[in-house]
Amino acid sequence: MIKMPRGTKDILPDESYKWQYVEDVIKGVCRDFNFKEIRFPTFEHTELFQRGVGDTTDVVQKEMYTFSDKDNRSLTLRPEGTAGVMRSFVEHGLYGGALPLKLFYLISCFRYEKPQAGRLREFHQFGVELLGSPSPASDAEVISLANAIFTRLGVRDLHLIINSLGCRDCRKEHSKALKAYFTAHKDGLCDTCRERLEKNPMRIIDCKNESCKEIAKDAPSILDYICGECSDHFEETKRHLTAAGIDFTVDPTIVRGLDYYSKTVFEFVSGDIGAQSTVCGGGRYDYLARELGDIDCAGLGFAMGLERLLLVMEAQGLYVGEDRPCDVYIASMGSEASVYASGLAAKMRAAGISAETDLMKKSLKAQMKYADRQGARFSVVIGESEMETGRAQLKNMATGEKTDIDLNDVTAVSAVIKEAK
Ligand code: HAM
Repeated sequence: MIKMPRGTKDILPDESYKWQYVEDVIKGVCRDFNFKEIRFPTFEHTELFQRGVGDTTDVVQKEMYTFSDKDNRSLTLRPEGTAGVMRSFVEHGLYGGALPLKLFYLISCFRYEKPQAGRLREFHQFGVELLGSPSPASDAEVISLANAIFTRLGVRDLHLIINSLGCRDCRKEHSKALKAYFTAHKDGLCDTCRERLEKNPMRIIDCKNESCKEIAKDAPSILDYICGECSDHFEETKRHLTAAGIDFTVDPTIVRGLDYYSKTVFEFVSGDIGAQSTVCGGGRYDYLARELGDIDCAGLGFAMGLERLLLVMEAQGLYVGEDRPCDVYIASMGSEASVYASGLAAKMRAAGISAETDLMKKSLKAQMKYADRQGARFSVVIGESEMETGRAQLKNMATGEKTDIDLNDVTAVSAVIKEAK
């Protein structure tokens, strides 16, 4: 028996409707904010993530699914969406069009992590990227969009934490201070962080190793180093958030696990789902376009883990949509009636009614049992007399009420069904 790979999950039919519900709400909010969907490849050239996400990050150093194709090209299953979106934006010259460009995506991502509740090796993200705007109003817009999704889904008690990572200039000074601090504590750092000390000391703040975490607690805060412009940007972002009625806490320890961020970074964290508590994370990445292309273009966005979002909703006992039952089950007695039922189902479906027929030559009793288990809202039985007269009894499965219907007048039948909705 071949089982699914560790860290992957089947989303079975008794659960998939919850995903559809959440995705529909997300798409509705994106429409309200006028974000358009982008779809892009599941795998990209490995170099895209090395350069985009950063080769000193855990994601790139430890977690990527990288393979060589038959032409010996190194390809990687996307561990996240931002690098792919930016690649596409640059490749298609979208920066030449109207800006800002506001994009969203619903994708699966792949990271070789130790699986646990809320942490998978294949997981799903809803993400947005707002490209072309350096203004703090955009930072607040993107955060508001995430917030609107939580509100519309009824999710409570998410804590928004924000920070500023500054620009390259202020980061230089902070980096020096970090290097001095971590060098003094070098012995307590893990091997990876000792290497990071030279190349990218800020990554140490994000290390999952307990001893590194302990040391990082007292590391110099970026907020003590940010320049006037970055500080103004951060203050204005906060003012926009307050104006939008969004509560937040400034937490200088959030550095995010990916290298492309500058200025604002943020996370929505839940107290309801255990250790993997970050439901949504994002920030600004004004240098990424230059890193991947030959252009300067501001950008920012976030991604929400859909598995974690659904875990929070479950923990909070939230109503997650409803599996849409079949409108009408057309039972049949005998092979002639089965053919008739197929024709009737085709006409009903064309009229916008979902219809099911017997596909297994079941007895009438078994067919009705099946209809019941499917939660069919109506049923109709086709036998010899129904075929002869063209009339049948449409039964409302919930009330038992029967309506005499003309099988040749599907419009009238659909009116009865739609009226009962
Ligand atoms: P990230 O923080 O790496 O950011 O991931 C975003 C979200 O994806 C996390 O907050 C979490 O909910 C979910 N997630 C990450 N890893 C896993 C996993 N192994 N299993 C389940 N869920 C997971 C990014 O990916 C950035 N691209 C976000 C962004 C977009 N920043 C700017 N634009």
